[in-house]
Amino acid sequence: MAKLTIAFAKGRMQTEALALMERAGIGMSEDARNSRRLAVEDESGSYRFIFVKPSDVPVYVEHGTADCGIVGRDVLMESNADLLQPLDLRISCCRIAVAACAGAIPSELGALRVATKYPRIAAAHFGARGIPVEIIELAGSVELAPVLGLADAIVDVVETGRTLSENGLDIVEVIANSTGRLVVNRASYQLEAEAVSRLINALKGVLKEDESL
Ligand code: PRP
Repeated sequence: MAKLTIAFAKGRMQTEALALMERAGIGMSEDARNSRRLAVEDESGSYRFIFVKPSDVPVYVEHGTADCGIVGRDVLMESNADLLQPLDLRISCCRIAVAACAGAIPSELGALRVATKYPRIAAAHFGARGIPVEIIELAGSVELAPVLGLADAIVDVVETGRTLSENGLDIVEVIANSTGRLVVNRASYQLEAEAVSRLINALKGVLKEDESL
Protein backbone atom coordinates (compact mmCIF):
# COMPACT_ATOMS: atom_id res chain seq x y z
CA MET A 1 0.00 0.00 0.00
CA ALA A 2 1.27 3.47 -0.90
CA LYS A 3 2.42 5.57 2.03
CA LEU A 4 0.76 8.99 2.03
CA THR A 5 2.51 12.01 3.44
CA ILE A 6 0.19 14.41 5.26
CA ALA A 7 1.33 17.92 6.20
CA PHE A 8 -0.13 19.33 9.40
CA ALA A 9 -0.22 23.01 10.29
CA LYS A 10 1.66 23.39 13.55
CA GLY A 11 0.04 25.47 16.25
CA ARG A 12 -3.62 26.12 16.99
CA MET A 13 -5.01 23.56 14.54
CA GLN A 14 -2.59 20.74 15.26
CA THR A 15 -4.30 19.24 18.32
CA GLU A 16 -7.74 19.20 16.70
CA ALA A 17 -6.38 17.83 13.43
CA LEU A 18 -4.53 15.00 15.16
CA ALA A 19 -7.58 14.19 17.30
CA LEU A 20 -9.66 13.93 14.12
CA MET A 21 -7.08 11.63 12.54
CA GLU A 22 -7.01 9.48 15.67
CA ARG A 23 -10.79 9.12 15.53
CA ALA A 24 -10.44 8.15 11.87
CA GLY A 25 -8.17 5.31 13.01
CA ILE A 26 -4.95 7.00 11.94
CA GLY A 27 -2.99 7.62 15.12
CA MET A 28 0.55 8.22 16.28
CA SER A 29 2.39 6.20 18.90
CA GLU A 30 2.87 7.86 22.28
CA ASP A 31 6.58 8.04 21.54
CA ALA A 32 5.92 9.98 18.31
CA ARG A 33 3.38 12.22 20.06
CA ASN A 34 5.84 13.18 22.74
CA SER A 35 8.78 13.71 20.41
CA ARG A 36 9.92 16.90 18.68
CA ARG A 37 10.44 15.05 15.41
CA LEU A 38 8.91 16.92 12.49
CA ALA A 39 8.29 13.82 10.38
CA VAL A 40 6.82 10.68 11.97
CA GLU A 41 4.95 7.61 10.82
CA ASP A 42 1.49 6.73 12.02
CA GLU A 43 1.09 3.50 13.96
CA SER A 44 0.02 1.47 10.93
CA GLY A 45 2.99 2.66 8.88
CA SER A 46 0.61 3.74 6.09
CA TYR A 47 1.05 7.46 6.62
CA ARG A 48 3.89 9.86 7.24
CA PHE A 49 2.93 12.97 9.21
CA ILE A 50 4.98 16.11 8.77
CA PHE A 51 4.56 19.21 10.92
CA VAL A 52 5.18 22.58 9.30
CA LYS A 53 4.24 26.26 9.68
CA PRO A 54 0.62 26.79 8.53
CA SER A 55 1.64 28.92 5.54
CA ASP A 56 4.05 26.18 4.43
CA VAL A 57 1.35 23.47 4.22
CA PRO A 58 0.12 24.63 0.76
CA VAL A 59 3.75 24.82 -0.42
CA TYR A 60 4.55 21.22 0.57
CA VAL A 61 1.29 19.93 -0.90
CA GLU A 62 1.48 21.90 -4.16
CA HIS A 63 5.02 20.64 -4.74
CA GLY A 64 3.90 17.08 -4.02
CA THR A 65 6.37 16.65 -1.14
CA ALA A 66 3.23 16.02 0.87
CA ASP A 67 0.28 14.30 -0.81
CA CYS A 68 -2.25 15.88 1.53
CA GLY A 69 -2.44 18.59 4.15
CA ILE A 70 -4.66 19.89 6.90
CA VAL A 71 -4.75 23.66 7.06
CA GLY A 72 -7.11 26.58 7.63
CA ARG A 73 -9.13 28.25 4.89
CA ASP A 74 -7.51 31.54 5.99
CA VAL A 75 -4.11 30.17 4.95
CA LEU A 76 -5.51 28.80 1.69
CA MET A 77 -7.13 32.13 0.83
CA GLU A 78 -3.81 33.85 1.39
CA SER A 79 -1.90 31.27 -0.64
CA ASN A 80 -1.89 31.08 -4.42
CA ALA A 81 -1.36 27.32 -4.38
CA ASP A 82 -3.28 25.17 -6.83
CA LEU A 83 -4.68 22.39 -4.63
CA LEU A 84 -7.73 20.20 -4.40
CA GLN A 85 -9.92 20.84 -1.37
CA PRO A 86 -12.16 17.80 -1.01
CA LEU A 87 -13.22 18.16 2.62
CA ASP A 88 -14.20 20.81 5.15
CA LEU A 89 -13.08 19.24 8.41
CA ARG A 90 -15.07 21.71 10.54
CA ILE A 91 -12.23 22.16 13.02
CA SER A 92 -10.62 25.39 14.25
CA CYS A 93 -13.61 27.52 13.28
CA CYS A 94 -12.75 31.20 13.16
CA ARG A 95 -13.41 34.39 11.24
CA ILE A 96 -11.13 36.55 9.18
CA ALA A 97 -12.09 40.07 10.11
CA VAL A 98 -11.25 43.73 9.87
CA ALA A 99 -10.90 45.23 13.35
CA ALA A 100 -10.02 48.62 14.74
CA CYS A 101 -9.78 50.40 18.10
CA ALA A 102 -13.23 50.67 19.63
CA GLY A 103 -14.81 53.97 18.58
CA ALA A 104 -11.97 54.84 16.21
CA ILE A 105 -12.90 57.08 13.30
CA PRO A 106 -11.07 56.06 10.11
CA SER A 107 -8.71 58.76 8.87
CA GLU A 108 -9.93 60.73 5.87
CA LEU A 109 -6.33 61.59 5.04
CA GLY A 110 -4.58 59.28 2.60
CA ALA A 111 -4.70 55.51 2.56
CA LEU A 112 -5.99 53.42 5.43
CA ARG A 113 -3.04 51.73 7.12
CA VAL A 114 -3.86 48.05 7.62
CA ALA A 115 -1.60 45.75 9.61
CA THR A 116 -1.92 42.05 8.88
CA LYS A 117 -0.38 38.62 8.49
CA TYR A 118 -2.67 38.26 5.44
CA PRO A 119 -1.54 40.89 2.90
CA ARG A 120 -3.31 39.28 -0.07
CA ILE A 121 -6.65 38.86 1.71
CA ALA A 122 -6.47 42.42 3.03
CA ALA A 123 -5.49 43.95 -0.33
CA ALA A 124 -8.24 42.01 -2.14
CA HIS A 125 -10.86 42.96 0.45
CA PHE A 126 -10.19 46.70 0.40
CA GLY A 127 -9.38 46.67 -3.32
CA ALA A 128 -12.84 45.25 -4.08
CA ARG A 129 -14.34 48.17 -2.19
CA GLY A 130 -12.15 50.74 -3.88
CA ILE A 131 -10.62 51.77 -0.56
CA PRO A 132 -6.95 52.76 -0.86
CA VAL A 133 -4.83 50.95 1.72
CA GLU A 134 -1.25 50.77 2.83
CA ILE A 135 -0.64 47.18 3.90
CA ILE A 136 1.76 46.80 6.81
CA GLU A 137 2.80 43.15 6.93
CA LEU A 138 3.47 41.75 10.39
CA ALA A 139 4.35 38.22 11.52
CA GLY A 140 2.19 38.14 14.66
CA SER A 141 0.64 40.04 17.59
CA VAL A 142 -1.13 42.12 14.95
CA GLU A 143 -3.63 43.51 17.48
CA LEU A 144 -0.90 45.69 18.93
CA ALA A 145 -0.54 47.74 15.72
CA PRO A 146 -3.66 49.95 16.03
CA VAL A 147 -3.20 50.28 19.77
CA LEU A 148 0.30 51.70 19.30
CA GLY A 149 -0.60 53.78 16.23
CA LEU A 150 1.28 51.70 13.67
CA ALA A 151 -1.97 51.07 11.76
CA ASP A 152 -5.58 52.28 11.59
CA ALA A 153 -7.01 48.79 11.35
CA ILE A 154 -6.05 45.13 11.17
CA VAL A 155 -7.10 42.12 9.15
CA ASP A 156 -6.68 39.05 11.30
CA VAL A 157 -8.15 35.79 12.46
CA VAL A 158 -10.64 35.98 15.32
CA GLU A 159 -11.43 32.79 17.15
CA THR A 160 -12.81 33.49 20.62
CA GLY A 161 -12.50 37.27 20.25
CA ARG A 162 -10.49 37.47 23.46
CA THR A 163 -7.37 38.96 21.92
CA LEU A 164 -9.43 41.73 20.31
CA SER A 165 -11.42 42.59 23.41
CA GLU A 166 -8.46 42.47 25.78
CA ASN A 167 -6.64 44.93 23.52
CA GLY A 168 -9.60 47.30 23.12
CA LEU A 169 -10.42 46.40 19.51
CA ASP A 170 -13.79 45.76 17.85
CA ILE A 171 -14.69 43.85 14.71
CA VAL A 172 -15.55 46.29 11.91
CA GLU A 173 -16.41 43.70 9.28
CA VAL A 174 -16.15 39.93 8.81
CA ILE A 175 -14.40 39.05 5.55
CA ALA A 176 -14.88 35.27 5.64
CA ASN A 177 -15.38 32.29 7.89
CA SER A 178 -12.55 29.80 8.13
CA THR A 179 -12.29 26.15 9.14
CA GLY A 180 -9.67 23.45 8.75
CA ARG A 181 -9.62 21.86 5.30
CA LEU A 182 -8.17 18.70 3.86
CA VAL A 183 -6.12 19.62 0.80
CA VAL A 184 -4.72 17.19 -1.74
CA ASN A 185 -2.00 17.47 -4.36
CA ARG A 186 -3.50 17.21 -7.86
CA ALA A 187 -1.12 14.48 -9.05
CA SER A 188 -1.48 12.44 -5.82
CA TYR A 189 -5.24 12.59 -6.22
CA GLN A 190 -4.83 10.64 -9.46
CA LEU A 191 -1.75 8.53 -8.81
CA GLU A 192 -2.58 7.58 -5.21
CA ALA A 193 -6.32 7.55 -5.79
CA GLU A 194 -6.98 4.50 -3.63
CA ALA A 195 -4.99 5.71 -0.62
CA VAL A 196 -6.36 9.25 -0.90
CA SER A 197 -9.96 8.08 -1.07
CA ARG A 198 -9.35 5.77 1.91
CA LEU A 199 -8.20 8.80 3.90
CA ILE A 200 -11.12 10.96 2.71
CA ASN A 201 -13.65 8.24 3.56
CA ALA A 202 -12.14 7.67 7.01
CA LEU A 203 -12.39 11.41 7.77
CA LYS A 204 -15.90 11.63 6.30
CA GLY A 205 -16.93 8.81 8.67
CA VAL A 206 -15.84 10.88 11.66
CA LEU A 207 -17.64 13.98 10.37
CA LYS A 208 -20.81 11.90 9.92
CA GLU A 209 -20.57 10.69 13.53
CA ASP A 210 -20.45 14.33 14.65
CA GLU A 211 -23.47 15.20 12.50
CA SER A 212 -25.56 12.52 14.16
CA LEU A 213 -24.76 13.79 17.68
C1 PRP B 1 -4.20 34.33 16.36
C2 PRP B 1 -4.72 35.59 15.71
C3 PRP B 1 -5.15 36.41 16.89
C4 PRP B 1 -5.62 35.38 17.88
C5 PRP B 1 -7.13 35.28 17.84
O1 PRP B 1 -2.92 34.53 16.73
O2 PRP B 1 -3.74 36.19 14.91
O3 PRP B 1 -4.07 37.13 17.41
O4 PRP B 1 -5.05 34.13 17.49
O5 PRP B 1 -7.63 34.34 18.77
P1 PRP B 1 -8.77 34.72 19.81
O6 PRP B 1 -9.87 35.40 19.05
O7 PRP B 1 -9.20 33.39 20.37
O8 PRP B 1 -8.19 35.61 20.86
P2 PRP B 1 -1.93 33.36 17.14
O9 PRP B 1 -2.29 32.80 18.47
O10 PRP B 1 -1.91 32.36 16.04
O11 PRP B 1 -0.54 34.10 17.32
P3 PRP B 1 0.14 35.31 16.55
O12 PRP B 1 -0.57 36.56 16.93
O13 PRP B 1 1.54 35.31 17.03
O14 PRP B 1 0.02 35.03 15.08
